[in-house]
Amino acid sequence: MSGVKKIEHAVLEVTDIEEAVEFHTDVVGLVELDRQDDVVYLGCGLDENYDLGLIEGETGVEHFALRVTETELEEYATRLEDAGVDTERRSDEPGQRDGIRFALPSGTDMELVTVADSAYHHPVKPAADRTAATPRDLDHINLMSHNVDEDMAFLEEHLDFAVSDKIVGETGFTVQAWLRHGRFHHDVGLSNANDVVYSLHHLAFQMDSLDHMKSFCDRLASKGYRLELGPSRHNAGSNLFAYFWAPGGNRIELTAEMATVDPDAETGVREIDKESNTVSTWGGVVPTKEFLEEGS
Ligand SMILES: [Fe+2]
Ligand SMILES: [Fe+2]
Repeated sequence: MSGVKKIEHAVLEVTDIEEAVEFHTDVVGLVELDRQDDVVYLGCGLDENYDLGLIEGETGVEHFALRVTETELEEYATRLEDAGVDTERRSDEPGQRDGIRFALPSGTDMELVTVADSAYHHPVKPAADRTAATPRDLDHINLMSHNVDEDMAFLEEHLDFAVSDKIVGETGFTVQAWLRHGRFHHDVGLSNANDVVYSLHHLAFQMDSLDHMKSFCDRLASKGYRLELGPSRHNAGSNLFAYFWAPGGNRIELTAEMATVDPDAETGVREIDKESNTVSTWGGVVPTKEFLEEGS
């Protein structure tokens, strides 16, 4: 199990590629690193690795990736193959050395990758031109799944994820789970999808602080965009949050101060309490039905 590594990248489908690229570069401040095979590769600019790929299509997740070492890649490839999971060897994305792709039980494609640029980086020496409001990195992905329990078991059994917290519904099925591969509370979230077309609830970018989030939200507002929810602090993970819908049709979260979890900690089981606000520890922020049920 790795320490501080979070998810490496995600490729999202968007309804209008040029509009989405313009928003993510002009407003979010991401840097365009490459274009190939209809995918536009964008990064936060602190290293040479891409964080977000955009491809025109519908909406939701085309695939997402976790960064591993070469040794881990071979170990996981063997374990997945031994378990009868179809894996495909791939190294065709910019900055990527090697990788395997496979599908989660719910159908969403996931990768394990090794990258060329894995040295140490510092914000005062960025790899590319970026603004002060630009996110630091990708933080986590919250998928929507029509079978949270199966996806959760797959990530635990084959890829050494641990479940930090989960919410079990009245029927006994898990309706929300937060899983970690390293020390942070969650790298992958799984939300129950009422509609099977949804694959994504949100993709989260890492920010330094509430102040960094404020600068970003001021920029967002100055360009005519509004938040959907927040800013506030979550219960599960204790991370700060603010959500908005990006042009192209996917929900983005800004986050900071994600809790770390002891490797041996037991899974926290939370109950659904429709009377109280389970999203915010501060209160004063009420999630809409759209926030709770709609994805992309
Ligand atoms: Fe990838
Ligand atoms: Fe999140």
